[in-house]
Amino acid sequence: MTETIKLMQSHSSVRRFKEEEVPQEDLNEILTAAQMASSWKNFQSYSVILVRSQEKKDALFELVPQEAIRQSAAFLLFVGDLNRAEKGARLHTDTFQPQGVEGLLITSVDAALAGQNTLLAAESLGYGVVIIGLVRYKSAELAELFKLPDYTYPVFGIALGVPNQKHDVKPRLPLENVVFEEEYQEQTTEVIKAYDRVQTEYAGARATTTWSQRLAEQFGQPEPSSTRENLEQKNLM
Ligand SMILES: Cc1cc2nc3c(=O)[nH]c(=O)nc-3n(C[C@H](O)[C@H](O)[C@H](O)COP(=O)(O)O)c2cc1C
Repeated sequence: MTETIKLMQSHSSVRRFKEEEVPQEDLNEILTAAQMASSWKNFQSYSVILVRSQEKKDALFELVPQEAIRQSAAFLLFVGDLNRAEKGARLHTDTFQPQGVEGLLITSVDAALAGQNTLLAAESLGYGVVIIGLVRYKSAELAELFKLPDYTYPVFGIALGVPNQKHDVKPRLPLENVVFEEEYQEQTTEVIKAYDRVQTEYAGARATTTWSQRLAEQFGQPEPSSTRENLEQKNLM
């Protein structure tokens, strides 16, 4: 096992941080590692907004009340970004048509890969990290707070800091329920129920709902309309 694999296999999200700064040098290393992630056609269709002022973190916390945001030493907002693409494309064409699912997938995947590099680089330096996807539910408000222009939207944030908690590694689904040989293998509900038990046991006293109940909460209703509205407003749909 390599040190890199060991690091990856020992990941667990950290949501409580000490009141300690992250030196600029470390942030530079982390973000340079983030930038080396692969991206669709090397378009690098994302940007990162580094939030360090407590004032801005508090303003964000008002919108997205996740304790990790206001406790973080740095909050990194990952923005899906075709704004630079527009400027590049317009050097050669009068039409720019990024609206649709492809543009969203390109930008979200690029941001996610850079985000995962950020997470691993930060953890390798001993920092704690959690991804905050709930920012999407306040897309329009975030667009205003961070002055996001056309063709950009918040994908997720990363709260980063010196850890003040440590959880055991969260058990994943058994590998054979996720990785299939040669063709797709649809899973039985027994697999789901078994993982519900694993997750409940892992969470112990912290368990309030089961894994499948959380699936029901997420997918048992239409998606929040605010995300779509913001994408329409930013000319991405
Ligand atoms: C796209 C994405 C969005 C997430 N959003 C949140 C969030 O808003 N709040 C939070 O506390 N955790 C969030 N998480 C963290 C997940 O809950 C966590 O990764 C998952 O439960 C697995 O736990 P682990 O990271 O500790 O292994 C998010 C993770 C991802 C990948």
